[in-house]
Amino acid sequence: MGKIMRLDKFLSDSTDMSRKDIKQLIRKKAVTVNGDIAIKPETQVSENDAVTVNGQAVLYKRFVYLILNKPAGYVSATEDKKYPIVTELVPEEYRHFDVFPAGRLDIDTEGLLILTNDGEFVHDITSPKKNVYKRYFARLDKPAEEADKAVFGGGMEFKDFTAKPARLEICDDAHEAFVEIAEGKFHQVKRMFERVGKTVVYLKRVSIGGLGLPDSLKLGEVKEIEYDELLNKIYG
Ligand code: URA
Repeated sequence: MGKIMRLDKFLSDSTDMSRKDIKQLIRKKAVTVNGDIAIKPETQVSENDAVTVNGQAVLYKRFVYLILNKPAGYVSATEDKKYPIVTELVPEEYRHFDVFPAGRLDIDTEGLLILTNDGEFVHDITSPKKNVYKRYFARLDKPAEEADKAVFGGGMEFKDFTAKPARLEICDDAHEAFVEIAEGKFHQVKRMFERVGKTVVYLKRVSIGGLGLPDSLKLGEVKEIEYDELLNKIYG
């Protein structure tokens, strides 16, 4: 049957129209529900009903899920007094969803960031309990060493938390490495490398669970992903 709601909520969730615009359109008989002209904003509709505005079908959409290839220089927040924010990179057509970042990347970190207005989803993927590992590519000031792997894998203790075992893979050029962590605490990857005496000079998140950063997505670009596909990729 689907969720039941008022017609004006259906339209304001799914489009960038204000409640006032919607009221006027209904008054002008420009809105139909299952083929009948709608006469009032309070009309009860289901999320699966066939709604049109000026003859155009409007599909119900409450939540949106966007993948951003975050460039350095942007703060993972919806407002900041000093720096540009990641939500400035959201294309106009998605602005009315009021998305926010699912977790944080540091201002100088690049890569995969999910932006959404679905708070429950954000809670799930950022909770360490869910064991969604996040994979990062790091470039270091000094070569990583084999012995570092055991330190990463041993569950490092910090004053604010104890990390779950992390995986470290050293690249052919040992100044480069991949790291997988279960949490996403403040500066976590940088702090882990500091523990073994290395400084991260470049950091990029390449995946969240099984969801990789698409190769085609350039820095600063945003791509919508459907909820089912997102869940399948992350947890699948
Ligand atoms: N760890 C960090 O140190 N920085 C990030 O942006 C993400 C993980």
